[in-house]
Amino acid sequence: MESNDSLFLPEQARIIGEKELTSNTKLFDLHFENGKELNHEPGQFVELSIAGIGEAPISITSSPTRGTPSFELCVRAVGNVTNALHRLNVGETVGIRGPFGTGFPTEELKGQDLLFIAGGLGIAPLRSFINYTLDNRDDYNEINILYGCRKPCEQMFEDEVSNWARRQDIYHEATVDYCPEEVCWEGNVGVITELIPGVDIDLAETYAVVCGPPVMYKFVLQELEKKELPHDQIYLSLERRMKCGVGKCGHCQINGAEEELYACQDGPVFNYERIKGFEEAI
Ligand SMILES: Cc1cc2nc3c(=O)[nH]c(=O)nc-3n(C[C@H](O)[C@H](O)[C@H](O)COP(=O)(O)OP(=O)(O)OC[C@H]3O[C@@H](n4cnc5c(N)ncnc54)[C@H](O)[C@@H]3O)c2cc1C
Ligand code: FES
Repeated sequence: MESNDSLFLPEQARIIGEKELTSNTKLFDLHFENGKELNHEPGQFVELSIAGIGEAPISITSSPTRGTPSFELCVRAVGNVTNALHRLNVGETVGIRGPFGTGFPTEELKGQDLLFIAGGLGIAPLRSFINYTLDNRDDYNEINILYGCRKPCEQMFEDEVSNWARRQDIYHEATVDYCPEEVCWEGNVGVITELIPGVDIDLAETYAVVCGPPVMYKFVLQELEKKELPHDQIYLSLERRMKCGVGKCGHCQINGAEEELYACQDGPVFNYERIKGFEEAI
């Protein structure tokens, strides 16, 4: 059992690398000052704090199979903490608590077909699991990756995405909602749900793993429903406003008729069968 100190006290981590992914999103490579490893599972998150500003939950985007003991966070500048982080330079430090939450069931899904569906910043937690499966390729069967953004300049991790497209042992499709006329784009134009009918789904073996903006879930679930994919073969990573990150404050509560769930502790990764009765969940 972890002590309260280790749950609530941030540890100092130094920014050892920084890369611009889009006009408002950066990839940060971090390393704990004391040299320890984060020891995370794909799908988990950390609470990142900046002294005098605040704290925000951020998914761990690197796979535990790569780059350890450092770890990567992909952060969009939207508010106080994330803008302050974007202003920091390589060599400066931040506070990190975690890893927290329930990750993707990497063990349980071994031997199965996987269908990753990532919308926008939803690629951040999914990239951790995607790279995990690619680094343990023999443990997983078919790997399908659908990745959608609003427009081409918002696509992140370009080198990795091109590599997915080149590989013969995975199926990958990219789409943008809209492509300006002057931009060269070889992928699909349209919403991500348009790509789902093109995926060969084996109802006995395929598991969908979904993360994206709140509006995306309803339509993705409708499309998976048309394919008759059983609900317990769908995993969703959900975002909620969080404070403590460890099931103590109630900020991330998802209320159901008879029970409530904490997104920080019971999630952020949920099996759809488990949460479909929770009206507030999707
Ligand atoms: C499990 C999890 C994983 C996440 N992973 C990532 C990730 O990998 N990368 C990433 O960039 N983000 C991620 N997020 C989202 C991120 O935590 C939030 O965007 C967070 O609010 C950013 O903190 P901030 O202080 O910069 O923004 P804030 O100052 O909190 O503001 C963020 C936005 O929310 C609005 N806002 C502020 N307070 C409220 C309120 N009370 N009610 C409604 N709206 C409000 C603001 O106007 C602003 O538009 C994740 C969130 C969760 C829960
Ligand atoms: S964030 Fe405090 S209970 Fe989930």
